[in-house]
Amino acid sequence: MTGPVFRTPLCEMLNIEYPILLAGMGSRGLATPPALVAAVSDAGGMGVVGGSGLTPDELRNQIRETRKLTDKPIGVDLILPAKVAGGAGNTRSEVRAQLKADFPKHVAFVEDLMTQHGLEQVELDNEFVVANTSGDRGETPGSNQKNMIQQQVDVIMEEDVQMFAAGLGDPSWVVPMAREKSMTVMGLVGSPRNAKRQVEAGVDIVVAQGYEAGGHTGKIANFPLIPQVVDAVAPRPVVAAGGIADGRGVAAALSLGAIGAWVGTAFLVSKECAIHDTHKRQIVDGESRDFEISRTYTGKTARMFRNEVVEAWTEADLDPLPMPFQKILMDDFNAAARAAGRLEVHSNPAGQAAGLLNEVRPAADIMQDLVAGAVEALESVQGRVTTS
Ligand SMILES: Cc1cc2nc3c(=O)[nH]c(=O)nc-3n(C[C@H](O)[C@H](O)[C@H](O)COP(=O)(O)O)c2cc1C
Repeated sequence: MTGPVFRTPLCEMLNIEYPILLAGMGSRGLATPPALVAAVSDAGGMGVVGGSGLTPDELRNQIRETRKLTDKPIGVDLILPAKVAGGAGNTRSEVRAQLKADFPKHVAFVEDLMTQHGLEQVELDNEFVVANTSGDRGETPGSNQKNMIQQQVDVIMEEDVQMFAAGLGDPSWVVPMAREKSMTVMGLVGSPRNAKRQVEAGVDIVVAQGYEAGGHTGKIANFPLIPQVVDAVAPRPVVAAGGIADGRGVAAALSLGAIGAWVGTAFLVSKECAIHDTHKRQIVDGESRDFEISRTYTGKTARMFRNEVVEAWTEADLDPLPMPFQKILMDDFNAAARAAGRLEVHSNPAGQAAGLLNEVRPAADIMQDLVAGAVEALESVQGRVTTS
């Protein structure tokens, strides 16, 4: 590959050319499909499969399809939630029955929403609820949840994967298996406190994800977050996530002490990304302010496009339910919206970086601009600043 030289210690650690990673985005396999993961790795960064929510077979298939396209290093990200509501059922059917019995107002509210938008009920047959293996930190996981996440991890260990990233929760039980496979382990955090926990769990690299990020996010913005996490975990390296959509963002992350960037929203508007065109348009046409934090779709705070459904929940006298109840409730709504081709009311998690994004482009072009832009920004700072 010929291009500018732009290296940090992350390149050595992950055996990549540029310190830029595709964020693992779990979205039924659509946000980080094999073509996108491979394109980012082929362009010198690291592509990461968002494995969360995929069945073990689907995950294996995604990894193998990616491997047909590239022999460069790739990663897989899984969400290991730290906490789910106590007493929640183990399967989708069980949680649905609990919803009807215990939260009839919420069920009625969503039924009303479906009627208002002319949607028909489509029941999902996937029984997977949510993974939780954290034991001492969360509620005791049910057997189905535990089995599912363990099977996903087994798949990652069996396949040709070089990096494992834990989206949330405690990855300590995965670390020894990953070490055996010479796999690097990364852990996402939104606070200095959780960064320390991730280090205790044994991760090699901490990903500090700021408030501006798309998807599940914490309360601290990147300017205060990154330096605090860098200080909290030193000498453990930190990668920055959230709001990075051009080379200036990458350069800023490095200035705050990070050694690389974990980029989500900017790659959602790549040609290779398989999210629906309606959702790409919401990102390309939208402003930063259109992407708000809401508990509408999963029960946990997540940044997403503010559509009519998010607004309806905000205005309702009803608080969204905790994970996994809200997720199971709204999975059915999303399925109905997809079946009716009404993607404008379907959830679209993405970050404030949307305001910087104006077109859908090949992932290789996005990578090239991130790299060239970072080099230019770093040189331009030196040109503008006098120090002695
Ligand atoms: C559609 C979407 C799905 C996501 N899913 C996951 C996930 O499954 N696991 C995870 O660790 N992070 C997930 N995230 C967060 C990303 O890994 C990343 O931290 C975030 O996108 C970075 O912020 P940015 O979108 O501003 O680049 C998701 C983000 C988005 C936008």
